[in-house]
Amino acid sequence: MQIFTDPKALAAQCRAWHAAGDDIALVPTMGYYHAGHEDLMSYARGLARRLVVSLFVNPTQFGPNEDLAAYPRDAERDSAIAAAHGADALFMPEPAAMYAPDHATWVEVPELAKGLCGIDRPIHFRGVCTVVLKLLLLTGADVAVFGQKDWQQQAIIRRMVRDLNVPTRIEARPTTREADGLAMSSRNVYLTPDERAVAPQIRAALLEAREAVAAGETDVSRLRELVLTRWREHMPGGKPDYLEIVHPESLEPLQSVDGPALMACAVKLGKARLIDNILLRS
Ligand code: PAF
Repeated sequence: MQIFTDPKALAAQCRAWHAAGDDIALVPTMGYYHAGHEDLMSYARGLARRLVVSLFVNPTQFGPNEDLAAYPRDAERDSAIAAAHGADALFMPEPAAMYAPDHATWVEVPELAKGLCGIDRPIHFRGVCTVVLKLLLLTGADVAVFGQKDWQQQAIIRRMVRDLNVPTRIEARPTTREADGLAMSSRNVYLTPDERAVAPQIRAALLEAREAVAAGETDVSRLRELVLTRWREHMPGGKPDYLEIVHPESLEPLQSVDGPALMACAVKLGKARLIDNILLRS
């Protein structure tokens, strides 16, 4: 596995691979790998002749009061994991290599970024779209793989790629979970043992909502109340940032569940802000 820090050198290597007839799969990450990242890498490894993994804690997707400085990092362990999963290239640029001091160009999908995580993180998806487009342009990736835990992110990236005619196929992988259902996240390290013990209630309540829909419930308020009640009882320290039922593609809020519907949430538990989602109907 080659390690690149210079965007131009990465782009030159990717052009050479394409010229030799090799296709390229990209897994964009911010590092501190867990089994979810490993799943993205293993899956992407099977999609193309060349696998590029990017590891970049992208500063532009963090708000001023967010955890950019505290975001967990372990580049040495991460490179060993990427190599073990057959990456041909690991791209680890410094922020200055990605953003000129007078960087002034942003990519936004405001219609899809205004709700859910966008409410509390108004600049987040602008930073994500901008860096992901840069990575797609640098690598010329034929396919890029994202996780469904960040459902809103993958929906926004799909729309950006479609709207800008970016010739990269976007694939999303199901959320990888701990045995007790907690969605894997690099931010789970922020949880204290007590918080970790109740965190699976996030998933448990979403599953209860899905069961209620399977049993015929369609009312969005009642479904939300079901989840909030369970959290109040079993996870009193958890503070929901949002809990919404939206259309899985347009992300528009739904009044009732009578077609495709996604329940998505963000919950603050101690220092961690945990997100999760479930398809109530597909
Ligand atoms: O999902 C992430 O880890 C990041 O948002 C991404 C897609 C790597 C962009 O920085």
